[in-house]
Amino acid sequence: METATTARLVLLVVLVAGSAWAVQAAADESQKAPLIHALRPMVGSAGDLGRRGGVPCDSWRLAVEAYNKRDWRTVPADCEGYVGHYMLGGHYRRDSRVVVNEAVAYAEGLKLGGKGKEVWVFDIDETSLSNLPYYATHGFGTKPYNATSFNAYVLEGSAPVLPETQRLYNKLIALGIKPVFLTGRTEDQRAITVANLRRQGYSGWMKLLLKPVGFKASAVGFKSGERKKLVDAGYVIVGNIGDQWSDILGAPEGARTFKLPDPIYYIG
Ligand SMILES: *[C@@H]1O[C@H](CO)[C@@H](O)[C@H](O)[C@H]1NC(C)=O
Ligand SMILES: [Mg+2]
Repeated sequence: METATTARLVLLVVLVAGSAWAVQAAADESQKAPLIHALRPMVGSAGDLGRRGGVPCDSWRLAVEAYNKRDWRTVPADCEGYVGHYMLGGHYRRDSRVVVNEAVAYAEGLKLGGKGKEVWVFDIDETSLSNLPYYATHGFGTKPYNATSFNAYVLEGSAPVLPETQRLYNKLIALGIKPVFLTGRTEDQRAITVANLRRQGYSGWMKLLLKPVGFKASAVGFKSGERKKLVDAGYVIVGNIGDQWSDILGAPEGARTFKLPDPIYYIG
């Protein structure tokens, strides 16, 4: 009787806490942390930070990732703490790892034509390199975009690698699939972008495609146009990965697309 009650209680607690989160957190983050830690999440559907200020920040983030929410300018002010914890607390890395695991499994299953024509398109910001050091000191996306301060940060060339993406990048090279960087960064930022990528351990890319200075087109227009040029030149885009929907929309998208998380900003 007592055992059955206890079992029911444990089941209830696990269901309430969100079994996926609890199991994942317990497995991933800390073998030695007490179980209670996994049952009292700070973020996610059961966490205080998800509800803070009456703003359901976790629902907001899901709407952003699913592309239900579009053309948004800033993170809701009340969600600064939530987004900060998401980005820095391990959840962002964990979500990125799931995306990359899928991408690696897909790439490993590909049958290549043997002529070296297969390419994989990588976005740069928040995909290959992280601007988190900038956003961590600028409100995690709650403040309007400031081109002056952001470009000054880019020109430092100090953006750290996103390790999960680099794992995919290195895997593709080992498989014989050629990486192509395709970025909304402008041509005048080529030298610092190359330096930053190299410093962070990237090498062996086939092309680095940047936007011409003063180019007037949407991100989708620019990026799909560049992908079309690759296809017209005989390349096969087997994969395409980015943090924005505008990285992966617009034909030719690539045979398969992968969306990395980004709750900090929106590029249309
Ligand atoms: C944008 O950043 C620059 C450089 O840090 C700063 O001087 C300026 O005040 C900022 N603009 C706004 C609107 O915050
Ligand atoms: Mg990006």
